[in-house]
Amino acid sequence: MTERQARWSLTLTVVATGALISWSSASFGADEAVLKPRVPIDQIENARTWTNPLPATEETIERGKRLFHGKAFCVTCHGKDGKGLGADIEPGTLRGPLPRNFTDQDWQAARTDGELFWILKNGSKGTAMAPFIPLILTEEEAWQVLRYVRSFGQTQGKPEANGQP
Ligand code: HEC
Repeated sequence: MTERQARWSLTLTVVATGALISWSSASFGADEAVLKPRVPIDQIENARTWTNPLPATEETIERGKRLFHGKAFCVTCHGKDGKGLGADIEPGTLRGPLPRNFTDQDWQAARTDGELFWILKNGSKGTAMAPFIPLILTEEEAWQVLRYVRSFGQTQGKPEANGQP
């Protein structure tokens, strides 16, 4: 490569990267409210230190799935496909933000397991997301269901692996 070609390809890279950044922040726009942490600022640091003690085995995920569809009724709001609008919910009838889309990779990456566990313990203030521990889920069951929630982030392009009870 000559020096001129090298400079040109550097320019192209810079321009392309710039375009990519502005494109992704544009497509981010709508999601910013979703990505904003739900755990209060004075508790988030501590919550982020909590890690899931259960391995992501098929058995754990399967248990989580049964809870999600069964006694914890997550499915009524989060949907079989985890995309956040259960069949039982008429659009517009929920107070506050819509249930989370668990297949959203940006959201999956933005949250630690500890933050999600905090939400299951405390709910998300001002929304329909209520606390589930300890009334409906034990802590162990909550970690199981979170393994299932995480599995939605890994099923893109494989819809058949997703959400069948
Ligand atoms: C009555 C409807 C409803 C039910 C039932 C429900 N959720 Fe939610 N969930 C919501 C809503 C609404 C939000 C969005 C809250 C927000 O934007 O802060 C949410 C958000 C979440 C989040 C994301 C919080 C974050 O940090 O972004 C998780 C994780 C979650 N729910 C898990 C569950 C699990 C697991 C169950 C079952 C144990 C469940 N939910 C049951 C309505 C529900």
